[in-house]
Amino acid sequence: MSGRLLVEARGLTKTYRARKGVPPFRAVDGIDFELGRGEVFGFLGPNGAGKSSTMRMLGAISPVSTGTLRVLGMDPAHEGPEIRSRIGVVPQDDCLDRELTVRENLFVYGRYFGLAKNVIRDRIVGLLAFAQLEEKADAQVETLSGGMRRRLTIARSLINEPEILLLDEPTTGLDPQARHVLWDRLYRLKRDGVTLIITTHYMDEAEQLCDRLAVMDAGRIVAEGSPRELIDAHVTREVLELRFQPDVHAEVAERLRAAELGERIEVLPDRVVVYADDGEVALVAVHEMSLSPITALVRRATLEDVFLKLTGRSLVD
Ligand SMILES: Nc1ncnc2c1ncn2[C@@H]1O[C@H](COP(=O)(O)OP(=O)(O)OP(=O)(O)O)[C@@H](O)[C@H]1O
Ligand SMILES: [Mg+2]
Repeated sequence: MSGRLLVEARGLTKTYRARKGVPPFRAVDGIDFELGRGEVFGFLGPNGAGKSSTMRMLGAISPVSTGTLRVLGMDPAHEGPEIRSRIGVVPQDDCLDRELTVRENLFVYGRYFGLAKNVIRDRIVGLLAFAQLEEKADAQVETLSGGMRRRLTIARSLINEPEILLLDEPTTGLDPQARHVLWDRLYRLKRDGVTLIITTHYMDEAEQLCDRLAVMDAGRIVAEGSPRELIDAHVTREVLELRFQPDVHAEVAERLRAAELGERIEVLPDRVVVYADDGEVALVAVHEMSLSPITALVRRATLEDVFLKLTGRSLVD
């Protein structure tokens, strides 16, 4: 492994064994990636892409099927306990103890890492402040909101002062306000130099948080780069979205293609999407063709467009 990499994966594969009536299934299909200290790296992909399977291998919780994986220079097959003691894990499903209080959850988790009681007590003070849960310290987890539970899970994952933090869908299911609070906490970790690996199927989350992304689909990495690089490499700078009566969308798209409008035209169930570097210029051209869309919107291209281009599907089901 090259010196400064914290994680290095080559041809990484996860195949789940056959169970009765269910054939074996390759959830992660030969992926390569690496990351260095202080980076925020994201896996962006739809349900079933293989994100959690990848995260569990990184967390030395689930064995690698084939390929090589090094985490902090170690092999999860042989040095799982050492890896687990130096990373933090926020699983997709919180697994907090709901009967216990916030403080007790942090304490129990610290003991699991074999930390001394006074060390844990000291760290809990800082972690409660970080998670904005000071007032809830003695409340049962059962009584917390979804956003608070997620913040507690993140606080808990930091109890052993990890060098890498793995976050599997940190904000899924949260309302917009709770998501923003959580993003703010993740920015702070990033600022403090913690290396983060995040999975998400929200393109805005990927765009906001990640320095570099791997776009995953069906167990493979279909593209990799910074959000900006991915957009520059795969789509135009702007996008023009046109809505007509749905039954004329195919016909309109044909006319737009014939007029060589934009670089690419995509027909979605509810709209025609024109990829053009200047959306306003494209819209003027649409009007000059005597087409009158019910609505027209010019927007900046996003990772959602990248995903659509690469897979022919939308990120959200
Ligand atoms: N323990 C398992 N045994 C068999 N198949 C599994 C197991 N865990 C996951 N899979 C399958 O592997 C594929 C990838 O699952 P995974 O949970 O890694 O995807 P994901 O990208 O995390 O999806 P999501 O966004 O829904 O969390 C899915 O088809 C899933 O059904
Ligand atoms: Mg998952």
